[in-house]
Amino acid sequence: MIAIPYFTALTTYFSYGLLFVFGQFRDFFRKILDWWSTDNLQGYAPICLGLEDFYIRRLYNRVQDCFGRPLSSAPDAWFDVVERYSNDNNKTLKRTNNVSRCLNLGSYNYLGFAAADEYCTPRVIDSLKKYSHSTCSSRVDGGTLALHNELEECVARFVGKPAAIVFGMGYVTNSSILPVLMGKGSLIISDSLNHNSIVNGARGSGATIRVFQHNTPSHLEEVLREQIAEGQPRTRRPWKKIMVVVEGIYSMEGELCKLPEIITICKRYKAYTYLDEAHSIGAVGKTGRGVCELLGVDTSDVDIMMGTFSKSFGSYGGYIAGSKQNKSYLPYKLL
Ligand SMILES: Cc1ncc(COP(=O)(O)O)c(C=O)c1O
Repeated sequence: MIAIPYFTALTTYFSYGLLFVFGQFRDFFRKILDWWSTDNLQGYAPICLGLEDFYIRRLYNRVQDCFGRPLSSAPDAWFDVVERYSNDNNKTLKRTNNVSRCLNLGSYNYLGFAAADEYCTPRVIDSLKKYSHSTCSSRVDGGTLALHNELEECVARFVGKPAAIVFGMGYVTNSSILPVLMGKGSLIISDSLNHNSIVNGARGSGATIRVFQHNTPSHLEEVLREQIAEGQPRTRRPWKKIMVVVEGIYSMEGELCKLPEIITICKRYKAYTYLDEAHSIGAVGKTGRGVCELLGVDTSDVDIMMGTFSKSFGSYGGYIAGSKQNKSYLPYKLL
């Protein structure tokens, strides 16, 4: 952990505090002005509400020129960043034709495949020529190429599971798979620092969600024990199924999951495990096979293995690897 200097932390919070107070004042007077203005949509509820909207309008917009900057080259170790300017205090940003050459500290391209790579780049170009960049159809209709099947077999072999299924986006993999696997009457126990795609997938599933302290197996056990004893809310019936969701390497903290301990607890309480390897697949383990390889966990002990192609593999998309049963069931629910 890097210790943040006390003075820096204090002045940062102070600036945020100041912006917050001024923002609240401005919103208050804006409301009064809008009330008088005739072009205001009378009777309509505001489309955006809440603290997040306030944060974006009054705090983030002021510094947004530092973030979300468009690139005009491959995400190599160095890349070209498009220069922008604003004439209205950062409300809108206009692009110039100039670029700055910058050191890349913001891409996930862990193995460098997304930059010009002598093995990958020609093969990608050949595949685009042969197969086109889109099937313009869903997977269960005319959208499955021989390449998809090859990729799914390759992923399953690589991660050590009987079958895999691939998706066009990593975020959507979590947010759409969890609602298919879990539903009313089931329980999802999620690490407190799990990625937003897992949080949204869990919320969309209709399952009951409980959170355990980040990477703390003893607290996971406590939650599991308590929930199994209590059962479903109101009816007190036993849970239809329980799934514990963790990440291999936590994206914001870079911390490694305590997977062996978590698996032991899940087995003890007969809970399924769902492992998101977005940041660990390709990046850790002797042959890049992720945390299971690194920590000596048998992949048959992890029920659902999820990962993305947007980090180590320098591409985009996600996968779910599990049993052959999962593979034959999921496409018809999803694709
Ligand atoms: C843990 C985790 N899961 C899923 C995703 C979503 O992956 P993608 O960016 O490929 O949509 C991310 C993205 O950063 C992530 O960190």
